[in-house]
Amino acid sequence: MIIHKFDAVIVGGGGAGLMAALQASGHVKTAVISKIYPTRSHTGAAQGGIGAALGNTEEDSPDWHTFDTVKGGDYLVDQDAAEIMCHEAVETVYDLEHLGLPFSRTADGKIDQRKFGGHAKPENPSDPNSKRVAVNRACYAADRTGHMILQTLYQQCIKNRVNFFDEFFLLDIILSEGICAGVVALEIATGEIHIFHAKAVFLATGGFGRMYKITSNAHAMTGDGVAAVLRAGLPIEDMEFFQFHPTGIYKMGILITEGARGEGGILRNRNGEQFMARYTPTLKDLAPRDIVSRAIHQEVQEGRGIDGRDYVYLDLTHLDAKVLSKKLPDISDFVRTYLGIEPTEAPIPVQPTAHYAMGGIPTTIDGEVIRDENNTIVPGLFAAGECACVSVHGANRLGTNSLVDIIVFGRRGGKRLVEFVRQQAMPPLPHDAAQKSKDRIETIRNREKGVRCADIRDEMQEAMMRDTSVSRNDKGLARVREEIAGLRKEAESLLIMDRSNNFNTELLQALELHNLLDLSLTTVEAAHARKESRGAHYRSDFLGRDDANWLKHSLSYLDGDSVSLKYKPVTITKYPPKPRTY
Ligand code: FUM
Repeated sequence: MIIHKFDAVIVGGGGAGLMAALQASGHVKTAVISKIYPTRSHTGAAQGGIGAALGNTEEDSPDWHTFDTVKGGDYLVDQDAAEIMCHEAVETVYDLEHLGLPFSRTADGKIDQRKFGGHAKPENPSDPNSKRVAVNRACYAADRTGHMILQTLYQQCIKNRVNFFDEFFLLDIILSEGICAGVVALEIATGEIHIFHAKAVFLATGGFGRMYKITSNAHAMTGDGVAAVLRAGLPIEDMEFFQFHPTGIYKMGILITEGARGEGGILRNRNGEQFMARYTPTLKDLAPRDIVSRAIHQEVQEGRGIDGRDYVYLDLTHLDAKVLSKKLPDISDFVRTYLGIEPTEAPIPVQPTAHYAMGGIPTTIDGEVIRDENNTIVPGLFAAGECACVSVHGANRLGTNSLVDIIVFGRRGGKRLVEFVRQQAMPPLPHDAAQKSKDRIETIRNREKGVRCADIRDEMQEAMMRDTSVSRNDKGLARVREEIAGLRKEAESLLIMDRSNNFNTELLQALELHNLLDLSLTTVEAAHARKESRGAHYRSDFLGRDDANWLKHSLSYLDGDSVSLKYKPVTITKYPPKPRTY
C-alpha cells in the first residue's frame, strides 16, 4: 500500500474539481485524483451554454436570473445560494474568457448569448410584474461549451503544476473522529491501494445518471463520491429530485442540447403540432425541463407520440443551415452519425433522458459538507458540482445552471479549502484507514460463485426507468423499492471472472454497481416518502405542490439495508413561493 501526503486532495477532474484545484494550487500542496483522464470528464458533455446575465444582446439582470432559478426549482432552491450563484456567474464567465475560453461571439465581438429553458425577463423591464418572455442568457461556445470549459481549466491546471493522479478510483473517504483525514483509492493501472492522507478532501465526482436505462450520462457517472459519503454514515440531500432532459436521442439517451430549441427548434407530436404551446403558452418549447419532459410523457400517454410510440420529434428543419453548422455543429453530427438523419431535412426522434441529479452531498455556500439537519460541518470535507447539493437547483435545475454551479461553487469551495488548510494541522491517520476498502475488494475478487454484474445492472436500470423517472406513484415506488432492495442483496454475491490487478475493469464495474444500487435505494425511498408533486418529482397520485407539508429538503442516511429520512428547512430570502406558471 502506498501512502501520499497532501494538504488538499481533490477527487474528480471535471469543471468543479479543476476550478477548485486552480484556487488551491500555488497556495497549498494539492493533488487531483480522477477515475478517468480529466479531459474526458462529463463536464465535456455539457453542450448548450453557461448562464450569466451579461446583457450582451439585450437587457438582463442577475436578479432576474436568480428569480428564474428559484421558480425553475419549484421554490425548493436555497435562495441565498441562488443569489450568490447568479450574481457571481457574471464575473466567473469573464474569468473563463480571460483564461482563454473561445466563446462564440456577437458581430461586435462580445460573448454571444442565446435562449434556454426557463430563463426569462419581464417584457417591460420597468414593470417587474409584466409577462416574462425568454431572454438571451446562455453564453456558449457553439454546442461544446462544457468541452471548452474543461479544456481551458485543464490547460490552466497544467500551467499551474497541479499534481494529477489519473485513473485512480475513489474507494472510501477516511473519517477520523468526525474529521476528514483523506481518501483511499485504487490505482486502476496496477490494482494497488493508495492512501491520500490530507488535511482536506474536496469531492467533485459528478452525478449518477447510470442508475437509469436511458441516460445522457457517460458510463463513468456512477456517483462514486456521493456513495462514499453515504457509506461513511453521512447524509445525502434531496435524492428524490432527478432531472430528465426532454431531448435525448430516442432509445440512446444521447443529449441534443436545449440550445437547439434556444435557436428556434420546435417539439412536435404525431400530428405535427407544436404541443408545448398548449402546456406553457408564454415560453412554449423553452419552458423548464421538468415541464417539457412531463408534456412529452403526457403526449405519449395520450397516443400522440410518433406512430403512437414513446417519442416525439425535435424539428430543426426550418432553421437556417448556417445556424446548424455554426452554432449547433456537434448535435448535427450526432444525429447524422447515430440516426443517419440530416437535421436540415428530417426531424429528430427524441425522448426524455436521465440527465442530472439535483440532490447530492449537502454543503454550505462555501462547499463545506454538512452532516445533519442543523447544518453541522464535517471538518476537512468539501464538495461541489453535480455530486453536491448547495442547493441552487431545488426540485428542477434550469439548463446552463450546472456549468454556473461548477464554476462558482468550485471556486468558492476551493478558496474556503485553502483557508481551512492554512489553519489546520494534519489530522492523524487511523491505523486501519484502508482496511474496509481492501476487504471489500478482496471479497469480490476471491468469490467463486455468484451473479453477473451486467444482469443486476440491467435490472436496476430497467426498474428505475419504469418507476422512478418522469412520473411516479405509490404502487410503482413500492414495487421498485422491493426490487432494488432485492438486487442489493443479490449484489452481495457479485462474481467477476477477471482476477488480475492491471486494469481490472470488471472489478471497477462491480464497485460502481454497488454505488449505483445504494443511490437507487435512497432515491426510491426519498421519492416514496415525498407525497406531493414538485419540479422533477411528479407523483400522479399526489398532484400539485404542498408547501404546507413539503417545503423542506430531505436528508437520507443509509444504515445497512435501511434508509432513514430527516428534513431541513429551505432558505427563503426574497421570493416567497408562488404558483408556477409559464
Ligand atoms: O441542453 C444542454 O445543452 C444541457 C445543458 C445543461 O444541462 O445545462
